[in-house]
Amino acid sequence: MHQDVAEILISEEEIRAKVKELGQQISRDYAGQDLLLVGILRGAMLFMSDLMREIDIPLNIDFMVVSSYGSGTSTSGEVRVLKDLDRGIEGRNVLLIEDIVDTGLTLNYLTKYLANRHPKSLKICTLLNKPSRRQIEVKVDYNGFIIPDKFVVGYGLDYNEYYRNLPYIGVLKPEIYRE
Ligand code: PRP
Ligand code: MN
Ligand code: MG
Repeated sequence: MHQDVAEILISEEEIRAKVKELGQQISRDYAGQDLLLVGILRGAMLFMSDLMREIDIPLNIDFMVVSSYGSGTSTSGEVRVLKDLDRGIEGRNVLLIEDIVDTGLTLNYLTKYLANRHPKSLKICTLLNKPSRRQIEVKVDYNGFIIPDKFVVGYGLDYNEYYRNLPYIGVLKPEIYRE
C-alpha cells in the first residue's frame, strides 16, 4: 500500500468485478442500439478504459476534459470545459462516464451543456457516488459503489494531480491534505 494511504476502501479485485457487472448491464441495456461513451477526463480515464472492454456491443468513444476542483480537496463550484467533444451528438445515445459524483456540480453542468445538442438519450455511469456530499441533484443511471464522505484517491482519482495511478481506491491520510 502507498505510504500516504490510510486504508484501501475498494480493492483491485472489487473494482474489476464491479466494472464487469456494469459492462454487462450496459451491454444488455443498449443491445441493438447506437452507443457513444463519453469519458470525463482526467478522473474517468482508468474506469473508461476498463469499462469499455467489458462492453461487448458496438460503440464509439469520445472525451471531454473538465475541471472544477483546481488543486484543492473541495470543489470551486465553477466548471470549466477544457476540451469539448470532437463530434456532434444529435440523435445519439450518450453515456457519460465519470469516476465520482461528489457535489454533483460537474455532472449537473455537463448534462445541461450536452442536452442542448439534442442527443437521443443522455445517461450517467459513475464508478463512485458520495450522496452525502450532494449540493445539486444528479440522476445517476449506472452506479458502481456508494462511498462514505472520505477523501479518496487512486484508479484515476487525484489529490493535487497525484495518486491517479494507484490501482485501488484508497483513503488519503488526513495529514497529507491538512493545511
Ligand atoms: C473530479 C471528479 C469528477 C468531479 C466530481 O474532477 O473526477 O469529475 O470532480 O465532483 P463534483 O460532483 O463535486 O463536481 P476534477 O474537477 O477534480 O478534475 P479531474 O477529473 O481532472 O481530477
Ligand atoms: Mn473529473
Ligand atoms: Mg481532480
